[in-house]
Amino acid sequence: MNLTLHVWRQKNASDPGRMVRYTAKNVSTHMSFLEMLDVVNEDLIAKGEEPIAFDHDCREGICGMCGFMINGVAHGPERGTTICQLHMRHFKDGDELYLEPWRSRAFPVIRDLVVNRGAFDRIIAAGGYISVRAGSAPEAASIPVPKDEAEAAMDAAACIGCGACVAMCPNGSAALFTGAKIAHLGRLPQGQPERDNRAIAMVVQMTEEGFGHCTNIGECEAVCPKQIKLDVIARMHRDYLHGAWTR
Ligand code: SF4
Ligand code: FES
Repeated sequence: MNLTLHVWRQKNASDPGRMVRYTAKNVSTHMSFLEMLDVVNEDLIAKGEEPIAFDHDCREGICGMCGFMINGVAHGPERGTTICQLHMRHFKDGDELYLEPWRSRAFPVIRDLVVNRGAFDRIIAAGGYISVRAGSAPEAASIPVPKDEAEAAMDAAACIGCGACVAMCPNGSAALFTGAKIAHLGRLPQGQPERDNRAIAMVVQMTEEGFGHCTNIGECEAVCPKQIKLDVIARMHRDYLHGAWTR
């Protein structure tokens, strides 16, 4: 099949950027979306033009590096799917696709479809860890964790830090990401001593990075490739308020 791509091209953070039209020819339905872009880039390089910059690493849906908007939807039209796992069989001949980077003040564009997600790293550095000694593997296994809690912690731990939640939120909120990290650690026994301080530090950092406030719209949950649920945000607020009241 043949597709028309309108791709956001921007040399660096200070360049105003613009949409550029390309044709992707003879696209196989077996290709992933990123493989389709690889072929477009090979053509551009052969013509002496700059290839389209996009982030990726594992291409298996686990590292969180990939992601951009396809026709205004973060990670494209398939639910619970990263863009590296999105296949061209979900598109049809003649489709016209608009590819844009995550749009958020806290994620400045580095080039084309690549943004700087260092703000997420700083939120993690503010409190997304356990600093008490958790013991070696056999010791850790000797601490009983109720099954429901272990499963809920694992569900939250599935967040890969891709940033789709921020990109899709009309407020540019990072509440789903931050809530997932807080819920993951706060549900485990080893995470209890720092639970309140962790929530306060991470929420303060999230606010300082310029992310917007959550108003329960739910676009984040709808596009999250790991299907993180909104209840992690409620848990973040609860831990934050508990910490603030008991300080
Ligand atoms: S909560 Fe979902 S959308 Fe947001 S960073 Fe984590 S995996 Fe990505
Ligand atoms: S490249 Fe790793 S999740 Fe997409």
